[in-house]
Formats: sequence, C-alpha cells, structure tokens
Amino acid sequence: MIEISEKDFNKLVAFVQHDYGIDLSKKKQLIQSRLQNTLNSKGFSGFTQYVDYITTTKNHNDIENMLNKLTTNYTYFLREREHFDFFKDTILPYLVSTKKNKSLSIWSAGCSSGEEPYTISMFIKDFLGQQASAWDTRILATDISTDVLSIAMKGEYDVKSLRDVPDNWKKRFFRPVSGDADKGVV
Ligand SMILES: C[S@@+](CC[C@H](N)C(=O)[O-])C[C@H]1O[C@@H](n2cnc3c(N)ncnc32)[C@H](O)[C@@H]1O
Repeated sequence: MIEISEKDFNKLVAFVQHDYGIDLSKKKQLIQSRLQNTLNSKGFSGFTQYVDYITTTKNHNDIENMLNKLTTNYTYFLREREHFDFFKDTILPYLVSTKKNKSLSIWSAGCSSGEEPYTISMFIKDFLGQQASAWDTRILATDISTDVLSIAMKGEYDVKSLRDVPDNWKKRFFRPVSGDADKGVV
C-alpha cells in the first residue's frame, strides 16, 4: 500500500474542499485506498507526485476520475423512508394546496445513480393521481460523479435496489429488462 503523508493529505483535502465543496478531512484511509490503482496505472511515484500533478495541472479528466473514485454513492429506491413519508404527508399536501400556478421544481442535489429523483417522481405521481397531467413538475438531478450520472441516465437497476418499492409501484413504474430477471428499468 502506497501511503499518503499528512502534508499531501492536507493539500489534497484543501484542494477538493475549495474547488469541489467536498469535505474529505476525515477520509485519509479512503483516499489512500481508493487512489492506489490510479497511482499504479498512471505511473505516479507516490502521493506527493500525484497531489502536485492534480493541484497544479487541474487536468479535467484526471480530476473527474479522482472524484469518481472518492465519492461514496450508496443509494437505493426509497432510501431514508421517513424523509419520503414527510414529503408525502406534509410537503406535497402543503405545496398542492398553496401553489396556484401548479408548478413544482425539485432539486435532488447529489442524486447518485438516480434512485432518489426517480423515487421523488413516483411519490409525486402517486400523490397527484389523475391531477398529475395538470401540473408542470420538474426534477433536477445533479451529482459530481459522472460515473453515477451515466447509470442514472440509463435508468436500469438491479432488483436489489428496488427491494423497498411496493409491488404495485414496481408494476406501475418499472418494466423488466428483457432477458435479465435481475434487472428493472424505470
Ligand atoms: C451517499 S450518496 C446519496 C445519494 C442519494 N441522495 C440518496 O440519499 O440515496 C451521496 C452522493 O452525493 C454526491 N456528492 C457529494 N458531494 C457532492 C457535491 N459537492 N456536489 C454534487 N454531488 C456531490 C456523491 O457523488 C454521491 O453520489
């Protein structure tokens, strides 16, 4: 294992915090282990050379690769169920009774591979029912990791990500990926 010195760690943490708003100050082990392959495959002699290279060249592709490695993208449909219950029982009734222009805009910031924005959209469709077509509903989904965004755009998920989705929602909002019993698509 190639180790990262305290100096290089602090320099990389400060750079990522300043330029990308991610706090990695408690993630020394994570940085060290997730960047090992990059150091080896790109021929860096160690973290000093890598951190110098990243922070001085700010090379777009290498930074994208680094952020894809350093972000933690854990997600599944209906994760944090109590948040969605609050959304359904409190936020949506409030918005529907107060938004006279029937326009909803929601931002899933840090959407990972898309399960969160797709979950939001299922709750909205279910809540609005027949009224859904009368509403202009927009969900903006963003993430700093391009790897997870490409999964989100494909909209194809392992059945284990759907474990908390009620059966009637599975039938209503998903269809099986042909030839693969373990996958569904939104
Ligand atoms: C643990 S996942 C949570 C995904 C989803 N929101 C959920 O609750 O299931 C956190 C996501 O936030 C993204 N993220 C972290 N910092 C970010 C930033 N500064 N800008 C955009 N996305 C960020 C990560 O790439 C990751 O995909």
